[in-house]
Formats: sequence, C-alpha cells, structure tokens
Amino acid sequence: MAYSDKVIDHYTNPRNVGTLDKSSHKVGTGLVGAPECGDVMRLQIEVDDNNVITDAKFKTFGCGSAIASSSLATEWLKGKTIDDAMAIDNMDIVEELALPPVKIHCSVLAEDAIKAAINDYRVKNGLEPIELEKSH
Ligand code: FES
Ligand code: FES
Repeated sequence: MAYSDKVIDHYTNPRNVGTLDKSSHKVGTGLVGAPECGDVMRLQIEVDDNNVITDAKFKTFGCGSAIASSSLATEWLKGKTIDDAMAIDNMDIVEELALPPVKIHCSVLAEDAIKAAINDYRVKNGLEPIELEKSH
C-alpha cells in the first residue's frame, strides 16, 4: 500500500508520544481499540480552567495510519477548546493524511480516542459525559 508523505512523516517522527498524569483532575484519558484489527490507542488531554487543551499525548499500538492519525490529532488538539476538540471528525484526518478506504477505521480510532478522553475529563470534573451517537 502506498502511504502519503504526511502519513510517513507522522509515522517516522510522531508528535507528542507519551503519557500525562492519569490521576490529575486536569487530565482526561481515552483508551480505545479497533475491532477490525485489534489495534489500541491511548490519547490524553490536559485541560486548563478555561476549557482549553494545553497538552495532548498519545501512545498507539497499531498500524502506521493509526499512529499518524493520533499524532496529527494531538497536534490539532493543543490550543483548542473542549468544544472545538469535540467537533474533530475522523474524515478531517482522512483528508489531511490522504488515507485510503481500508485505512479509514484507523482515523475513526483517533476520533473515538479524542471523545473518550474528553468524556473522561468531564466525568472526573463532575460533568455529564457527552452522548456519542455517531456510528461511522
Ligand atoms: Fe495490524 Fe493494524 S491491522 S497493525
Ligand atoms: Fe487497524 Fe490501522 S489497521 S488501526
């Protein structure tokens, strides 16, 4: 399969790999798996008092497209409000990375991880989790 230059760039030089302190109330953690292939992605956000994401980290045990999708997602998340982060759609990632159809679920993993991290943060801070109605 031919990967795009952007996928190769993120895969060989992934941004924001790492871990944030899970026990902090400012940190939300999303851990998701893809039933299609068994790949697993963990994405974490750190949020300040104004609902702005000040840091994002990921660790992905998965294919190149999943690593590139989560690397890109952490770049996009930094500086965004929670609401803007919630609006990130996996098809934005598909477009940016030029993912082929068989790799779309890799970007879904990233979107799901973002939403799971946001909901973890919300629940930790006494807010209702946002209902995720979208099925891809
Ligand atoms: Fe093998 Fe995703 S299917 S790494
Ligand atoms: Fe499954 Fe990429 S092949 S996440």
